[in-house]
Amino acid sequence: MPIRFVTSNEGKAEEAREYLDDVERVDFDYTEIQGDLESVAAAGAREAFVELGGTDPVLVDDAGLFVRALVGFPGPYSSYVEDTLGVERVWRLCEREDDRRAHFRTVLAYAHRPEDALDVKVETFTGSVPGTIVEPRGDGGFGYDPIFEHDGTTMAEMSTAEKNAVSHRGRALAKFADYLAGEPAQTKGAE
Ligand code: IMP
Repeated sequence: MPIRFVTSNEGKAEEAREYLDDVERVDFDYTEIQGDLESVAAAGAREAFVELGGTDPVLVDDAGLFVRALVGFPGPYSSYVEDTLGVERVWRLCEREDDRRAHFRTVLAYAHRPEDALDVKVETFTGSVPGTIVEPRGDGGFGYDPIFEHDGTTMAEMSTAEKNAVSHRGRALAKFADYLAGEPAQTKGAE
């Protein structure tokens, strides 16, 4: 059974395919409730699972950039801030700060109905990566990747495999893949 990765972001889907064989990207506009990343991802996965038919497992990813000097901003508002201010302006906000440390965090929420279960089950897997906000560099990746530097390289300067090896999403996907390894039908490489 394929896992339906509910996202409009092809970059996220490409990263997921490095860990999971059977991923189908699905565009579905779930309700973004107010709350932390866990609550948003879990509610979105539950809603998408039901609305998409209630049979195939569903994966939702909710991520955010947390800048220390900005007291965690943009955090859960990262998507809105990227669309309105833009990534370059987030760099400008940080430019004069002495401390430009930040971290990226993602929560993967997996909604599925195990055999014999009456109701949908939602499990979450998190990953985070420390970094520094820098002047935009690099053409790869997406979103805030050009201003997020990890170990001297921005995530936009990394290949997908290099980013996955260190990134918040790579860490969460590795945990999720380990979890799936206990469910043979959905394990990478399984028939
Ligand atoms: P969402 O999880 O799709 O809501 O993403 C929140 C915001 O963070 C959006 O502006 C994304 O473009 C951005 N974002 C999510 N994941 C990443 C990433 O891995 N690198 C850079 N930006 C990201």
